[in-house]
Amino acid sequence: MLDFHSHILPEIDDGAQNVDESITMLKMLKDQGVNTVALTSHFIAMDESPAEFLENRKKSYELLLTEIQKSEDSLPKLLLGAEVYYYPGITKMEELSSLTLGDTNLLLLEMPMAPWGEYTIKELIDFANFSDIRIVIAHIERSLKFQKRDTIDRLLDNDILLQSNASFFYSRKTKRKALKMFNEGKIHFLGSDCHNIKYRPPKIDEAINVIKEKFGLDSVKEFFEYQKNFL
Ligand SMILES: [Fe+2]
Repeated sequence: MLDFHSHILPEIDDGAQNVDESITMLKMLKDQGVNTVALTSHFIAMDESPAEFLENRKKSYELLLTEIQKSEDSLPKLLLGAEVYYYPGITKMEELSSLTLGDTNLLLLEMPMAPWGEYTIKELIDFANFSDIRIVIAHIERSLKFQKRDTIDRLLDNDILLQSNASFFYSRKTKRKALKMFNEGKIHFLGSDCHNIKYRPPKIDEAINVIKEKFGLDSVKEFFEYQKNFL
């Protein structure tokens, strides 16, 4: 089981405040059956250059690895990535490929919580068609209400992938919509988007249970099996 979106790296963004918290979060995910975790710290081009981000991420990751080596628990495998905040023209940024996840070509892209506009949609589609990088839109559920009905389908038609947060499935208000999208094959990755232990904890098992209840264990297995094609 893969958690595709997390803020577990310590002392780098608004996620884990220290390495102890990071370890606890990893243990929590392991207990829920997660064996691989994407470490997707926020990258905001307005705040830092890609080189600065990568340097900070390296330090944070080293801190985490040192602590993991001391730990006797078996913890999930880690993949280094980023949650890259969109700005108009970002697809022209040369260093974009350094922000993809692990050895994959997947780029987790966080979109503004507002109508995107035709320029933005076209930018994403053009990029999807001409680049080797594969865009994964982060927590798509946050964007749905702002976009025209056909926008998401246009993205999907151009091989753009969608990630949803686990809460999309276990929140009573959005569960139906989440299950409908899942059934239509419009959710490609699931993430806890965990930031800490207290207020935004790693909680992915509840989403899995919701899917399992509705569509059965085989569809959950199929979902995670499909993701292996990208890793
Ligand atoms: Fe996030």
